[in-house]
Amino acid sequence: MKLLFIGDIVGSVGRKAVKDVLPGLKSKYRPDVIIANGENAAHGRGITHQIAKDLFDWGVHAITMGNHTWDNRDIFDFIDDEPRLIRPANFPVGTPGNGYTTVKAAGKEILVINLQGRTFLPPLDCPFQTVDGILERMKSKSKYIFVDFHAEATSEKIAMGWYLDGKVSAVVGTHTHVQSNDNRILPGGTAYLTDVGMVGPRDGILGMERDGVMHRFLTQMPSRFIVDEGKWHFHAFLIELDDQTGLAKSTRLIRTDEDNYISE
Ligand code: FE2
Repeated sequence: MKLLFIGDIVGSVGRKAVKDVLPGLKSKYRPDVIIANGENAAHGRGITHQIAKDLFDWGVHAITMGNHTWDNRDIFDFIDDEPRLIRPANFPVGTPGNGYTTVKAAGKEILVINLQGRTFLPPLDCPFQTVDGILERMKSKSKYIFVDFHAEATSEKIAMGWYLDGKVSAVVGTHTHVQSNDNRILPGGTAYLTDVGMVGPRDGILGMERDGVMHRFLTQMPSRFIVDEGKWHFHAFLIELDDQTGLAKSTRLIRTDEDNYISE
């Protein structure tokens, strides 16, 4: 079982990158399941129904979200009818949508869980206790379990990796938009990566135009962040899972950009 996880897709540049790059990655690596973080897909903030449909059309099986889940109000019209799109499971009880989903692909079923960290992010239910509850209910239903932990602090992400080692197939971080290079298989067999990175404008600051971000840093005054245009970069993570145990056999970072995208 091969799983491809695509980092936070940012704006139209990110969507174009997914559309352009995914066919090549599919033929090269033959992933059975493709998951993408889409919380910045609509102009950097949230996601629309049409964008979700496009991502599914291009081959994505499940979309995870994060702290920008509700930034585009279009989501309220479809999240409850679209099980392939999930938001962090530790959002308050009663929040629209679901925090996990089961994806069927290539004759296999994979449980996909989305969680959000609480360090330098708004307070939420405990992601550790939340994932315990989900695993209690769902772990007998699928041997393949993927966790997108949308969090800021590297320590919180590493803690989640160790917490779930041996209990899930993979714990992969999102949110920082910077790909880390600490991919490994933990002793219990769980694939781990602190952050998968992003897919979107390469020459901005985390996908935003440099001027607005710079202005805020230099003056400490509010400034508008605008999604950058221009060339893209594409960060993803490929994980191969053992069909007997559901645990990881190998991991591979994928990192390319518009000038160099056949280099993998
Ligand atoms: Fe985020």
